Amino acid sequence: MFKSYHKLVSTILVATVASTALLSADTGASGTYMNGKKVIDGGVTYPIRQGKTALYFVNETISTQPIVHGRTPTANEVKHWDIDVMPDGTGLPEGSGTVEEGDELYEEKCASCHFDFGTGGAGYPALQKGNAYEGRDSLTNQRNSPDDDGPIRVFGTYWPQASTLWWYIKTGMPHPSPMSLTNDEVYALSAYILSINELEIEGEELDDEYELNREKFLKVVMPNRDGFVPVIDGPKGPDNVREFFADTTNYGNGTRCMHNCFEGKPLLARIKGAGISDYQPPISIKRELPPKAKTTGEHAGKKTYEASCAICHATDSMGAPEVGNKKAWEAVLKKGLNSVEQNAINGMGGMPPKGGTSLDDEALKEVIDYMISVSQ
Ligand code: HEC
Ligand code: HEC
Repeated sequence: MFKSYHKLVSTILVATVASTALLSADTGASGTYMNGKKVIDGGVTYPIRQGKTALYFVNETISTQPIVHGRTPTANEVKHWDIDVMPDGTGLPEGSGTVEEGDELYEEKCASCHFDFGTGGAGYPALQKGNAYEGRDSLTNQRNSPDDDGPIRVFGTYWPQASTLWWYIKTGMPHPSPMSLTNDEVYALSAYILSINELEIEGEELDDEYELNREKFLKVVMPNRDGFVPVIDGPKGPDNVREFFADTTNYGNGTRCMHNCFEGKPLLARIKGAGISDYQPPISIKRELPPKAKTTGEHAGKKTYEASCAICHATDSMGAPEVGNKKAWEAVLKKGLNSVEQNAINGMGGMPPKGGTSLDDEALKEVIDYMISVSQ
């Protein structure tokens, strides 16, 4: 079903291919060329020409530090990440954990993003929206006449199979350190998440002492199990899919269009007349790199930053201003240092109060000072 490791593998492979392509580079007056091809050096999208995009190269000339291209993962590494957990139990290991253990782990490792009791918010998905058995009208209804009766899109009400939850937590969470939880921990967290969705197993509510194991987990029947059409599970799956797609009234407006669907007018038009020399923005070879961190005398806020804040601030993937990104911090500091400090103390959007720490205000300000000092 979900094969995120494929993405990992292909990223590493692409990086390897790019590195072998970097055989020679020379800088001319109008740009940088590698192997006779103009280099494209940023997150800019260039139009497709004659059905092809230009070849992409990593521009090593813009970086003073060597670029690490990664390597092809070993068979063992691929095996480690190659986990599929299927509704029938295939791939689900033995293990156990209680709701209470899950609650503690949740507080420690998940609540900073998914908030108390999985209520979500600030861009982080909720893991429950109350009792999952309520408002369980099928997705079929929702498709034909979208209204509020459809399943709410959180785990409890929407996901057809609980196996996806186990798999998702094991291979994807906590977001910054996937694959760091033991199987027992994943059972405990699954038990906790089932309990906050008020889901029952064979009619039994999951109270604090409830211990979830493989056998019980496979008995979870999700409310929206049959809500998806066509039903793709089971021996009839392929037939259901064929039948579904043979009847065009099941989707779209009842007509099928394979060519000339827009009466000759494509929805997306290519940019006219743009040659390789007049891309906008122009292809540049210069880019400002973040300044190197001070090497003498470590900043007092550095250690705390690394321990408590880097989890969200080291990249912009969590929506947090990225440390080292001058522009991002310039924008933040427009509010004035005082407001920024107050926002960090009180919390703001996806930023938990004090970044989820119990630092006193002065220590927190020290950390912010560090973050700013390496971002200018
Ligand atoms: C640093 C932030 C962060 C932490 C910590 C974190 N998550 Fe997540 N989690 C996310 C984000 C972001 C997504 C959405 C990812 C996406 O859609 O690609 C997500 C998605 C999920 C989902 C899927 C929700 C849905 O309906 O799609 C589950 C389940 C989940 N997390 C469980 C956990 C558990 C359990 C933990 C603790 C072990 C945890 N998360 C810790 C950020 C976090
Ligand atoms: C769970 C993720 C997370 C953690 C942990 C975290 N931050 Fe943030 N932080 C954010 C997000 C998201 C924002 C952006 C909030 C917004 O713009 O709505 C932010 C914004 C900020 C801002 C800018 C506030 C403003 O006025 O724009 C500061 C300063 C900050 N964080 C400091 C810290 C410090 C110091 C720590 C560690 C002690 C920390 N953060 C830990 C997610 C986090």
